[in-house]
Amino acid sequence: MQFSVSRTTAPKAKPDWDKLGFGAIFTDHMLIVDYTEGRGWHDGRIVPYVGLSLDPAACVLHYGVEIFEGMKAYAAPDGRILLFRPDANARRLNSSGARLCIPEFPVEDFIAGIKQLVALDEAWVPRQPETSLYIRPFIIATEPHLGVSRSKTFQFIVICSPVGAYYPEGLDPVGIFVEDEFVRAVKGGTGYIKCGGNYAASLAAQYKAKQLGYSQVLWLDGAEHKYIDEVGTMNVMFKLRGKVVTPELSGSILPGITRDSVIKLLKSWDYPVEERKISLEEVLQAAKDGGLEEAFGVGTAAVISPIGHFNIMGADYTVGDGGIGPLSQKIYDALTAIQWGRAEDKFGWTVRVL
Ligand code: COI
Repeated sequence: MQFSVSRTTAPKAKPDWDKLGFGAIFTDHMLIVDYTEGRGWHDGRIVPYVGLSLDPAACVLHYGVEIFEGMKAYAAPDGRILLFRPDANARRLNSSGARLCIPEFPVEDFIAGIKQLVALDEAWVPRQPETSLYIRPFIIATEPHLGVSRSKTFQFIVICSPVGAYYPEGLDPVGIFVEDEFVRAVKGGTGYIKCGGNYAASLAAQYKAKQLGYSQVLWLDGAEHKYIDEVGTMNVMFKLRGKVVTPELSGSILPGITRDSVIKLLKSWDYPVEERKISLEEVLQAAKDGGLEEAFGVGTAAVISPIGHFNIMGADYTVGDGGIGPLSQKIYDALTAIQWGRAEDKFGWTVRVL
């Protein structure tokens, strides 16, 4: 696929690079590709960042037919601009699409289009430590039709946002509220895909946790409220009695790319790591007897987010000594060194843009 380029004639002022926050500032350009049933994906174009024009009856506005990805471009100290495992994002986008009757977007066009967009907006890739260009590819169903049926038209869009830390706490451990009322997803539902609806369904619990003084929620499985699924918008890992354990891909949790990368990193260190069911009871017991050594969320946006304490059924339990665990720190350092091109990439995960 070829992407036509229409450059902005009014470049925006660059932000204060020391105060980026997360997801509030957008670059000069965006990528759009249209889909029409019978014709496939067509008219790939990079255009100035602008509001969308949608028919008020577009499927996405009524039935939430939308999927997205989250990935980043990193500025290496030697001037290279790197993407991290973009093929994995492209494949996951297509697996999300299959669940919501959204047509596949070709993996090679996904990578080529994003490379071209990031190269054009290269001046927006922040150079400050721990900052990156967050890339948000998404697909929306655009057919104006109020009947609940598969849309015949879609748009694939990519926008980019220079970002700092996802949580204002950065790598400082956060407090987590174990959610026992709302659930995020059930097996057979959409928990394993990245669709906007999953995040909409998480908001009330997140708000409740915030009001109670916690940063995020720990999600339990939707069927029995017994096993751990995810934390906030991330996969979750525990260091329990000398081993890293993380919930298995049960059908209700997202197959995180950071999750997969952390598991591969740990295995390369011969560190014991298990993907299995983890009951809240097991974590509670370990928290009580000192076996809960570390806990952290893993995701593209925050990379590693250490958990300092949990509220479980009204009681507060500290993880380890409440600080950043040594293993959490080691994983963060190793993964970010690869992502930012400071260390050799033995896994072949990084893809050069420039
Ligand atoms: C990520 O960690 O990449 C996420 O999915 C968070 C995003 C919803 C902001």
